[in-house]
Amino acid sequence: MKFEIVDKNLDKISADASVTFVVDGDMEHKWIDKKKFKNLEFKGESESAVLLSESLEVFVGVKSLDYEELRLGASKAYSLLKTTKAKSVKVGSYLGKCKYMSMRAIVEGFELGSYEFDKYKSKKSNCNLKTVKLSTQSYNDKKIPLQDLQEAIDTALALASSTNLAKDVVNTPPQDFTPLSMEKEAKKLEKLKNVSCKSYDEKFLKKEGMGAFLAVNRASALPPRLIHLLYKPKNPKKRIIFVGKGLTYDSGGLSLKPSTAMVTMKADKSGAAAVLGIIKGASELNLPFEIHGIIGATENMIGGDAYKPDDVLIARNKKSIEVQNTDAEGRLVLCDCLDYAQDFKPDLLIDMATLTGACVVALGEFTNGILGVNEDLQYDFYKKTKNSGELSTPLYSNRYLDKTLKSEIADICNISNTRYGGAITAGVFLSNFVRDEYKDKWLHLDIAGPAFVQKPWGYNQFGASGAGVRMCLNYLLEIAKGK
Ligand code: BES
Ligand code: ZN
Ligand code: ZN
Repeated sequence: MKFEIVDKNLDKISADASVTFVVDGDMEHKWIDKKKFKNLEFKGESESAVLLSESLEVFVGVKSLDYEELRLGASKAYSLLKTTKAKSVKVGSYLGKCKYMSMRAIVEGFELGSYEFDKYKSKKSNCNLKTVKLSTQSYNDKKIPLQDLQEAIDTALALASSTNLAKDVVNTPPQDFTPLSMEKEAKKLEKLKNVSCKSYDEKFLKKEGMGAFLAVNRASALPPRLIHLLYKPKNPKKRIIFVGKGLTYDSGGLSLKPSTAMVTMKADKSGAAAVLGIIKGASELNLPFEIHGIIGATENMIGGDAYKPDDVLIARNKKSIEVQNTDAEGRLVLCDCLDYAQDFKPDLLIDMATLTGACVVALGEFTNGILGVNEDLQYDFYKKTKNSGELSTPLYSNRYLDKTLKSEIADICNISNTRYGGAITAGVFLSNFVRDEYKDKWLHLDIAGPAFVQKPWGYNQFGASGAGVRMCLNYLLEIAKGK
């Protein structure tokens, strides 16, 4: 979709359709002609909307000018306009507390709401709507400077297209999206400003002593890849490293998943997909940080060569790991990638993974878990990402959960000895591979819930949601502002 700024009042702009937000049920607002609703029940309540089919006017209720309300509202407007012949639509300016954030949210809502994954459908859905005209005429008499409006559009498009890239990666079926496809996708990002990419094969993993990562790959017919992306602008303020779990398929391995639980496991590459999205976003947003994206890509399969429960693996940092469940494979790939990442001396280290079903049980499918050992950092991340449109909550460990990974024969076990608190104990496992000097700089994001949407919610269609991308990019935008 194309977003055009038009420095004219709405009645001077020609477009096939229009969208008006009704804020907090204010049907008396001068932009709303109540007569048009005399035969309708519409009261402008949040998440309600009407389309007047003759004039192609859309009215959407929003509780306030909060960003998520506007994102949801814009995507709702899009879904109504999609059913019409309108090619263009006009929208006024809505200004909330912060500079251009409300307009950014509206553009994000259109872009995220219009995502479709129809690569495998013979009949493609074609939407007529191609142009959104954003008027500088303001709903609440605070005129937005043209430059701010342009910044709102640019930022929103960067955030949404990075999210939509992650969705494409995750939605692509496992026979067509392999570790080598991940490499190809990462290399494509090299065309972006300040981005470069290196990719490493099995030989490198062996040389590096990545015994945990390699074990997970053993029964796969496909070779693994460690992919290292770098976005390096001039004079970066900090070095930030993202690490992503890239299981292009997780069958569970010999601790095989039940058949119904296996469906959707193409989405086990969501952490890696988020890394790709973040690098793309970082470049398009010109972020002032050196940002690394490290991806561990492999499948977890079964076969005569599969790694087994009872195996003891030696990780890159030389710790021995007793395998008790081959379905707890993500942490094995991540522990070697995290160790590799720390060689690059990050100021901040964040891994993202669809790591545990337990996280979904604990938080529900809408919310990401923020784990780590530095509770202040976890909380800071939570606060700074509240407006990103992604939901998350910190999960804190304690001395008792910390002790549940003890192994009788190795340094650590890959699963805990309690069936409770699985999202946290998975985080504790990872923390054992974070060196003391980086412990306070590390976060683990468990995105298992929101990564794959089975029942559409908000502006998330069925399938991947691009979890992690907006959350992390918003965090980076926040810390770029400096306190
Ligand atoms: N990829 C799964 C986690 C998952 C489950 C993601 C459901 C999304 C939806 C992970 O590799 C896994 O299987 N974890 C096990 C850990 C257990 C064996 C300790 C799980 O959650 O059951
Ligand atoms: Zn698994
Ligand atoms: Zn997995």
